[in-house]
Amino acid sequence: MSHDHDHLQDDDLEIPAPGLQRPRRLRRSGPMRDIAAETRLHPDMFCQPHFVIPGTDERQDIGAMPGIVRETPDKLLHTVEADLKLGIKHCLLFGLPSDKSPTGEGAMDPDGPVPTAISMLKENFGNDLLVSADICLCAYTDHGHCGVIEDEEVLNDDTLPLLAGMASACALAGADIVAPSDMMDGRVGAIRVALDLQGLEDVAIMSYSAKYASAYYGPFREAADSAPSFGDRRSYQMDPRNALEALREVELDVEEGADIVMVKPALAYLDVIRMVRDSVDLPVACYNVSGEYSMVKAAAKAGLIDEARLTVENLYAFARAGSDILITYHGREVLKEGWL
Ligand code: PBG
Ligand code: ZN
Repeated sequence: MSHDHDHLQDDDLEIPAPGLQRPRRLRRSGPMRDIAAETRLHPDMFCQPHFVIPGTDERQDIGAMPGIVRETPDKLLHTVEADLKLGIKHCLLFGLPSDKSPTGEGAMDPDGPVPTAISMLKENFGNDLLVSADICLCAYTDHGHCGVIEDEEVLNDDTLPLLAGMASACALAGADIVAPSDMMDGRVGAIRVALDLQGLEDVAIMSYSAKYASAYYGPFREAADSAPSFGDRRSYQMDPRNALEALREVELDVEEGADIVMVKPALAYLDVIRMVRDSVDLPVACYNVSGEYSMVKAAAKAGLIDEARLTVENLYAFARAGSDILITYHGREVLKEGWL
């Protein structure tokens, strides 16, 4: 079949047919695309974050994160039960204490919201549920930084025992995994030693190894009430310009005893996820953070994008980049709505 053009005759130019290889053959139908798919998503990969407040029978909406709530441990129990029915068996807990202090010792309180929630969840769901606890002081300090402060500086080594204490409180309450997100040097080692000394050698560490100083955490800081009261986190979290540094962080965490390493945020750091995946033989997690979630929600609300498709496209990108564990606020909705 030839088309006539004023300036182009059949004789002038012979356009070659594609030949034997036609990649479009594998895109012709849904089932064809499915058998050719290189990446798959499974509920086993999802980890659902939760914000836990003290008390009972209370649930609060979070303005910056539509669909995500803060809730008391008894309410959380019902949320997690519903998530389990959807196939989400891994959760990550953040706490909002009733009292904040300069050194955040509320983080070590065995009766705090997170240890309380951990023991309730493990009592009810046992090993059907995997409970991870975020380990960081920023929601517990009155200045909102992730460590101890002196002259507006975050002290690394003075913070380590507090992180180890917080991890111990969570592990003693029954956490399966502790997940340090503070970015102090040596925290994985400090936590590992503290846990082992207490006979908690079976508790795993999922380290936020490559955690960047990111503007994408904005909505979370409202959710967890953890915004720094002065300055920012750039003296301890990673510089977004760096990727090789992520490999150094990962290497140190592995040496110190990390069982799972994480890249955070996820969407703007897919290159880092890939580099980390290619450099370690441990499971790699990524954290699809609050700002990434809320941007999708806002764009959907504004009618700019197809939320179901965009959400799943993002999740596939994390898996394609090499992430085994997807910490995402979207998990519950994706499974409930059948978006996969
Ligand atoms: C605490 C912590 C933060 C997040 C996870 N753990 C915030 C921060 O570092 O300021 C961000 C999670 C999110 O944005 O969803 N250190
Ligand atoms: Zn923090």
